[in-house]
Amino acid sequence: MTAGKPAYYITTPIYYVNDDPHIGHAYTTLACDVLARFKRLDGFNVRFLTGTDEHGQKVEKSAAKAGVDPQSFTDRVSQNFRDLSALLNFSNDDFIRTTEERHKVACQALWKQLVAAGDIYLGSYAGWYAVRDEAYYAESELTDGPNNTKIAPSGAECEWVEEESYFFKLSAWGERLLKLYDENPDFILPASRRNEVISFVKGGLKDLSISRTTFSWGIPVPDAPAHIMYVWLDALTNYITAVGYPDEQSESFKTFWPADVHMVGKDILRFHAVYWPAFLMAAGIEPPKRVFAHGWWTNEGQKISKSLGNVIVPKELVATYGLDQVRYFLLREVPFGNDGDFSRKAMVGRMNYDLANQFGNLAQRVLSMIAKNCEAQVPQPGALEAADEELLNAAAALLGDLRGEMDRQQFHIALTKTWEVVSAANRYIDHAAPWTLKKTDPARMATVLYVLAETVRRLAILCQPVMPDAMARMLDQLAVDAGARDFSTLDSRLVPGAALPAPQPIFPRYVEEEAPA
Ligand code: MSP
Repeated sequence: MTAGKPAYYITTPIYYVNDDPHIGHAYTTLACDVLARFKRLDGFNVRFLTGTDEHGQKVEKSAAKAGVDPQSFTDRVSQNFRDLSALLNFSNDDFIRTTEERHKVACQALWKQLVAAGDIYLGSYAGWYAVRDEAYYAESELTDGPNNTKIAPSGAECEWVEEESYFFKLSAWGERLLKLYDENPDFILPASRRNEVISFVKGGLKDLSISRTTFSWGIPVPDAPAHIMYVWLDALTNYITAVGYPDEQSESFKTFWPADVHMVGKDILRFHAVYWPAFLMAAGIEPPKRVFAHGWWTNEGQKISKSLGNVIVPKELVATYGLDQVRYFLLREVPFGNDGDFSRKAMVGRMNYDLANQFGNLAQRVLSMIAKNCEAQVPQPGALEAADEELLNAAAALLGDLRGEMDRQQFHIALTKTWEVVSAANRYIDHAAPWTLKKTDPARMATVLYVLAETVRRLAILCQPVMPDAMARMLDQLAVDAGARDFSTLDSRLVPGAALPAPQPIFPRYVEEEAPA
């Protein structure tokens, strides 16, 4: 049922198909997945979009290198990104490919709207272009590389391009962009990135070349088929294609546009926070509500690159540490928005300490005591004491806190706050010592175990967005009905007397292999 639910639209960047999925792709989509799951459980009508960016010179070159035509090439490799969704349990509602007909229609319609608005003119471009980034650079941004090459700030090699080109009058949009940032202080998050964008725009915007004539793999410009649309104009448009553009009166467009969050890596912020809102405003379409730029991962302190051979492959991570462990680690380890380092030691530490020792052990202790001492049924609590109320209240207060953190994409703080309750529950069990009460006061033991089981239930419901499989198993062990796991059920209580299945550990410890002698 979606009627009456507030809408929430969240997008990942669409990925260049020429690359094999790596930790960077996994990270951006994971963040969106967690947010999408959180919002669904919190009663929103969510649309979560991901997909692949299949046009442009870079993909055309990769196809040629593979010895196949670009369409067959993209058909094959875009599947790698669908497989990534399945591997990492991503819950995207749609998967868009820019080679789909619906997208061609949308791009050409947007182009025509920009022409009608007077924001496109024909000129000629002479300047530097980096195929790897699919981006134009000013001479002043470049450095000299080996063999007289010119290198962009991203490290990509640039080539000199001179050709007839259509331009978008970006220079006319500076003031309106600054007004957009000013009136919507959270349009770009985190704040440090917002400041960078503002100074870039204040530095003056040049008109943007938005068509190319020297290759053919892309969407033809309406009425000028020798021109292929600039791949970023094509790619950005995916966000509106997927909700029904050009039919702006469609139910889906009216429901989901403007998007609530475009999640991107810091390297592609300029395209999303400058060009994209300018295109949209020029076409008379509302800009998105937020662009969040996250940081980059390094591997054991080193920049990740194919040439260094240190690419982190999501499949290998999951095989080594487990899916939900990886999902938890990626969002807990690094303040979202900052750069972060992947290290084996940190991964194993989170897995063994936060998950196995703190949370897993808590659930296991409570459930096995109930299995042994309460006839494998939810115990019957007696009157609650202050400490019981305190723990239950702390768990009940979490949802409000998490909503605030998730609305600002502060996943690491949401998890830190959740773990404060996990720690409080561990302190409570150590202090209440139900294993001692077993002999001295079995009725009090039942109360303590009830309070703990109820706390674990709430924690498990709230942790579902990050660790969907593990939490489903935890909730199964508490015999929580599969249909009663959304956030509206947080206010209900476990029913005393309900039969519980035999407990199974949820979070295994990672045991380091002996280092070879
Ligand atoms: N096709 C464009 C996006 C078009 S959106 C309209 C593109 N594709 S990409 O495949 O290169 O995107 C990669 C995404 O992964 C970006 O968000 C980028 O920031 C992210 N990452 C790539 N390497 C990364 C790390 N090492 N760490 C974290 N994220 C990184 O850009």
